[in-house]
Amino acid sequence: MNKPLDSFLQAPSEAQALREGQRVGISRPHESAHLHVAGEAAYIDDLPELAGTLHAALGLSPVAHGRLNAIDLDAVRAMPGVVDVLTAADMPGGNDCGPIVHDDPILAEGELRYLGQPVFAVIATSRDAARRAAGRAKSVLTVEASPPVLSHQEAHRLGQYVLPPMHLTRGDAAAAIAAAPHRLTGTLDVGGQEQFYLEGQISYAIPKENDGMLVHCSTQHPSEMQHVVAHVLKLQAHHVQVECRRMGGGFGGKESQSALFACVAAVAARRLKRPVKLRLDRDDDFLITGRRHCFRYEYEVGYDDEGRVLGAEVTMVSRAGHSADLSGPVMTRALCHFDNAYWLPDVAMHGFSARTNTQSNTAFRGFGGPQGAIAIENILDTIARNLGKDPLDVRTLNYYGPSDGDERVMTPYGQKVEDNILQPLTAQLEVTSDYRARRKAVAEFNATSPVLKRGIAFTPVKFGISFNVAHFNQAGALVHVYNDGSILVNHGGTEMGQGLNTKVAQVVAHELGVEFERVRVTATDTQKVVNTSATAASTGSDLNGKAAQDAARQIRERLAAFAAEQAGVDPSEVRFANDRVFIGKKAPHEVPFCELVTQAYLARVQLWSDGHYATPGLHWSRETMQGKPFFYFAYGAAVSEVLVDTLTGEWKLLRADLLHDVGRSLNPAVDIGQVEGAFIQGMGWLTMEELVWHPQTGLLATHAPSTYKIPTANDCPPVLNVKLYEGDNPADTIHRSKAVGEPPLLLPFSVFFAIRDAISSVGGHRVDPPLSAPATSEAILRAIQAVQAG
Ligand code: MTE
Ligand code: MOS
Repeated sequence: MNKPLDSFLQAPSEAQALREGQRVGISRPHESAHLHVAGEAAYIDDLPELAGTLHAALGLSPVAHGRLNAIDLDAVRAMPGVVDVLTAADMPGGNDCGPIVHDDPILAEGELRYLGQPVFAVIATSRDAARRAAGRAKSVLTVEASPPVLSHQEAHRLGQYVLPPMHLTRGDAAAAIAAAPHRLTGTLDVGGQEQFYLEGQISYAIPKENDGMLVHCSTQHPSEMQHVVAHVLKLQAHHVQVECRRMGGGFGGKESQSALFACVAAVAARRLKRPVKLRLDRDDDFLITGRRHCFRYEYEVGYDDEGRVLGAEVTMVSRAGHSADLSGPVMTRALCHFDNAYWLPDVAMHGFSARTNTQSNTAFRGFGGPQGAIAIENILDTIARNLGKDPLDVRTLNYYGPSDGDERVMTPYGQKVEDNILQPLTAQLEVTSDYRARRKAVAEFNATSPVLKRGIAFTPVKFGISFNVAHFNQAGALVHVYNDGSILVNHGGTEMGQGLNTKVAQVVAHELGVEFERVRVTATDTQKVVNTSATAASTGSDLNGKAAQDAARQIRERLAAFAAEQAGVDPSEVRFANDRVFIGKKAPHEVPFCELVTQAYLARVQLWSDGHYATPGLHWSRETMQGKPFFYFAYGAAVSEVLVDTLTGEWKLLRADLLHDVGRSLNPAVDIGQVEGAFIQGMGWLTMEELVWHPQTGLLATHAPSTYKIPTANDCPPVLNVKLYEGDNPADTIHRSKAVGEPPLLLPFSVFFAIRDAISSVGGHRVDPPLSAPATSEAILRAIQAVQAG
């Protein structure tokens, strides 16, 4: 905290704005950064344990599919330190924690659905004792194994889904493809991704008087946790309080999947009248919880001589796992992002969420959007190769038209693209990245380098912001001004490292014209702001920022009215800035903010307020897949250049240039951090993070950091140029900013297609490399061999 403030600023204009009293548009460190680095930020396992706290651990199914015939509970109970054992029959309000479809057993009952499914919960005097007893699952469970269906392709062949298929069509794709001068058919496989939050899933349940239950839960969705816990305890919502100060990362993995652990801890705590903590071991976290859906695409496209897509039909099959969880909304977003940046005149999309004997897949940064958009990028990349054109030219040719008057602005789901900035953004990045010259240099390098090959790619992003379910797009906040002038903010969003609390604090400081240090944001708590939505779909600051602004504005107006009355001026002549209040127009009288607050308190002015916000104008029909699901779009583009060793399949990212649109940034430093983090995380998804299930047993073999490789600081390219695109959000968002959490996860498409470009050079760009994601060294070598074979 001793670092001079100016060292965080990203531009000289920020220093000027700060002096003039602005508190948004200013780079600030994350409000907990000093705690994070000192190890003083409290996560749930850091909370001092109450006397009498017990620990839970889960006994897991040893088979991917089968029948559970018996559990030898006595053998578990006889283990040292064991206090109690819970099974499915012990869930008072019913054995389900599904977020949308009620098909998610808390503990397995009859049918065993995947290897790693929780079957029983051991409650013991120590975590060690609980884990040792739960570890006996194999010997205490009598199971009858049957063959599992592990892959989404196989489940699709069997017609086995967690939801009815979805279709989103416009025009007559088949006729357009048939009539087109060129046709292309193909398939693509893209793997899933583990959220790999640093803090694993954890819940600490504490029984309170008169049927109350407090759950400290690492969750992106406290209200949903409150709801499922109340349901499983057969209590009302007002009995259950869920609190989350922060998560050590969520990335979508704690939106719905924190529920099982919250329920088990709460049921045990209520039964035993003792606090119960359930903290997963990392391997168990991998084995129990779901992650990003793997996708399989089959497509057929018709295009013209220049590379214009005339018609497209795509079938997407996702690996949903054993239950629906959020597979429906994920597939909806995938279908609504197949267009990415492109106008597709006639299009037919079909989405199948395949039921498999694996973990139930769920939200992960981008929520299906990345999975939808990568398919069209792969198609355009192939079209460009087939036509011998620069892929960037084929991409820009297919871009949505400029918003003013062009007819090429309608998305397949019936929303107009009214804020398109793809053309100027692309033009800018093309210049700053020196794309054309580098494309030439890459070709020259490859001409004389037989083993090492370079590749380069430019990919754009268009990402819709809002929840596809209209009523989720609301938020609430509470702002308290204490009579010493200090300010406390509470809102419905959760902090998972993305800097939401920092941004909301800035919005409140700006609204009240005070220094940042005056504003403190507290833990998310269902007893403060109620009926909240998940902090997801990147909407956290859009929704909660507006709600907090609404609350702060009301207090400012009351203070202004009070000050104006005292001075005999009009309230419009009272201005708040830089911790001072300026009263009167000419030669204003100045009062310190805290002094005015104290005077107002003595005059019995209400110094706290609630605030609410609902995003306007959204509607969506699940049946027709039509409507206006998004308030606006966020845009971006990236250029990546790689070097591939064609003998080993190893590769290196040499340089990446990112230009990303966050509207008018609330906090450029935090936003750049989000763009960089999303880029590297998405690069991990597409190039190194590989999930392998044993083809017979269904064991997720890659269930620990020893076998599952995420990117590290070493994987950052030596040249990483990140810039925020200048321009306001035309939509009336909080200070004209845009959501930033998820959209930049699509920027590393450029890395994948740069690798594909390098591989393609092996065959003189005449053969389309059959590269699947993740582009591991093995996958790269396979694709090189296929290209060499012709
Ligand atoms: N950044 C960090 N550091 N940690 C996270 O868990 N989650 C991402 C993104 N950025 C995440 C993150 C996801 S999946 C979403 S939806 C958004 O943050 C949620 O926060 P926001 O809506 O406030 O941007
Ligand atoms: Mo983010 S996947 O919407 O939590």
